Amino acid sequence: MDKPSYQNRMKWFLHDRFGMFIHWGLYAIPARGEWVRNAERITSEEYYKYFEEFNPKSFDARKWAALAKKAGMKYAVLTAKHHDGFCLFDSRYTDFKATNTPFGRDIVAEYLKAFRDEGIKVGLYYSLLDWYHPDYPHYSDSVHPMRGNPEYKDAVHNFDNYLDYMHSQVEELCTNYGKIDVLWFDYSYDDMRGEKWRSTKLINMVRSHQPDVIIDNRLEVSGEGFGSIATDNPTAYSGDFVSPEQIIPPKGILNERGEPLAWESCITMNNHWGYHRYDKDFKSSKVIIRKLVECVSKGGNLLLNVGPDANGVIPEESAGILCEIGSWMEKNSDSIYGCTHADLEKPEYGRITRKGNKYYFHITEELIGPIPIYGFRKEQIEKIRLLATGAEIPIAEGWVTKNYPDYVFVHYGPEQFFTYPLPDPVDTVIEVTVKQ
Ligand code: GLC
Repeated sequence: MDKPSYQNRMKWFLHDRFGMFIHWGLYAIPARGEWVRNAERITSEEYYKYFEEFNPKSFDARKWAALAKKAGMKYAVLTAKHHDGFCLFDSRYTDFKATNTPFGRDIVAEYLKAFRDEGIKVGLYYSLLDWYHPDYPHYSDSVHPMRGNPEYKDAVHNFDNYLDYMHSQVEELCTNYGKIDVLWFDYSYDDMRGEKWRSTKLINMVRSHQPDVIIDNRLEVSGEGFGSIATDNPTAYSGDFVSPEQIIPPKGILNERGEPLAWESCITMNNHWGYHRYDKDFKSSKVIIRKLVECVSKGGNLLLNVGPDANGVIPEESAGILCEIGSWMEKNSDSIYGCTHADLEKPEYGRITRKGNKYYFHITEELIGPIPIYGFRKEQIEKIRLLATGAEIPIAEGWVTKNYPDYVFVHYGPEQFFTYPLPDPVDTVIEVTVKQ
């Protein structure tokens, strides 16, 4: 791997930290998640009815983009093709695409325009699996909807033919739509990994068109496994970051030498990626804000998913949560963008993020009395401010703190030592600027 060009292309990604994942396709109509074909073993023929019906009357990519912007998200990734094989873009290699439905529009093109117009970086997700293509293994595959179905036992699939198709589609995405910031392949499993996808060739083609695109690690792995990016000998297709799914790694992610790796946790707001009509177990904005902070404090990104419904609307629960996240971000995003882990002990009451000589103490647990600022002596500190308002936070010194000389204490209450209640019960951020 060419280190300088890697570090260069990763700059914005490591700075921006917070993105929107969008899972959308025909599966929004059955509304039972994007794996519905697999779970219910639905045939391509049965599933085709959703293709004939697809006409999301309220779809407006500008509304999605405005919401992402409001939430403070700096990049987005849309499912150009998910496992069901349905393409949201106008591919010349298939008829199974949005432009052939009653809707008749190129959703990828509209998405890219709307998000770029908001100044949001754009990514495309592309499924390596394809449950619609006749040459993708059916019977013997472990996740295909027709797995183990005797009707397909003797079917012949020309996998090379599928690979030609897949490569051609990826090339379309890399050449027909301008600059793409992220390419999110999904995913490898069983023996379907690495060169099975003709990955070296694929990556060389992608890089020839999109030299700076940031690519995930799933040509080798899935949410499980880090891949060769974590070793001393990464392959050409190791990807640029690790992609933990539905988990935030306990201590960030390190390579085999113990050096920090770039990673991005992708998580759902409820428990499905694609729209699901009964799944109302949405995480609160409080939880998500704290999880975003957790990712950054461990040197990672958060890619937070929304699953628009069959009309093209982001569920109102998600929209409400995103707005609440946005209100917090409006005041506190300095503690997220450009920040990373602080190399300090994790405080009892929360977490720390860091940007250069600024340390952001995120307080999520109420304290009794003054707040210990970890890691610094008084003489090292230039100033301490409440990030949300810019107000000075005074140092608290007196008989209460005397027994703990290893810490600098601060208070934001009306008087010395008073710190209850937290100004922001979700996450109060104290910005400590250290002398350089
Ligand atoms: C999984 C699932 C998929 C989802 C993805 C997001 O690999 O197969 O439905 O798109 O994770 O990370």
